Amino acid sequence: MKIMFIGDITAKIGRRVVGKLLPKLRDKYDLDFVIANAENATHGKGLIFNHYELLLDAGIDAITLGNHYDDKNEIRQYIDGAPEILRPYNLKEDYPGVGTALFVSEEGIRVRVTSLLLEAFMNIDVFNPFFAFEKLLNEESASDIHIVDIHGETTAEKLAFGFEFDGRVSAIVGTHTHVQTRDYRILENGTAYITDVGMSGPYNGILGVDKEKVIARMKGERGPFTYDNSDDAIFNAVIIEIDDESGKATNIFPIYQIVKEKDL
Ligand SMILES: [Fe+2]
Ligand SMILES: [Fe+2]
Repeated sequence: MKIMFIGDITAKIGRRVVGKLLPKLRDKYDLDFVIANAENATHGKGLIFNHYELLLDAGIDAITLGNHYDDKNEIRQYIDGAPEILRPYNLKEDYPGVGTALFVSEEGIRVRVTSLLLEAFMNIDVFNPFFAFEKLLNEESASDIHIVDIHGETTAEKLAFGFEFDGRVSAIVGTHTHVQTRDYRILENGTAYITDVGMSGPYNGILGVDKEKVIARMKGERGPFTYDNSDDAIFNAVIIEIDDESGKATNIFPIYQIVKEKDL
């Protein structure tokens, strides 16, 4: 089967570029299943119910989150009734929703999706992701196609996770840095891997945030981050091809597309 994973959808421009491109890409690549990280989909932080519905309408089948899982309070109220959303699996906090779930594609293929938070520079109380994921694998059947979002800051922690679980899941894809890395590959034992998928959002911001605000903060000023609603857009994703029988990946390649503001 062919699965697309879309990197952190960020703010209004991120939602718009996904709505614009995804239906065409679903057809062009004959995709069976689409997963997206949407931790930044609402004004750059969090995910409100309306935007969750909008992303499903655009053609997304499963949604992962990250350190911004809780930034819009209303998600606590609706996440238990939103089976497509995976909040981080290894939170220490007792939080509604789930962090792993089994989906069934239109063709009846079972796909497990898991959302994990890594530890470096994250400032969120999580169970060690290596031990938490080992436990999860021991509890779940090993034959399912399984896609794991590792949401983390450092390249080394992500690559270590990739090597540790190579051959035990179909794909391990990184999110959170909003910058796509060039290291996509199939690891030795059949797991597709990329350190970071990148983001889908404002192209001329800094990780999606208005650049002036980020530069000011780096010069010691204080003030809220804002997200420009008029900008070109970047769309970052990977497409992963998987052998349905073995659950092993046979191919992974990136999508890196810029859409001019006038074409959004
Ligand atoms: Fe993000
Ligand atoms: Fe993040």
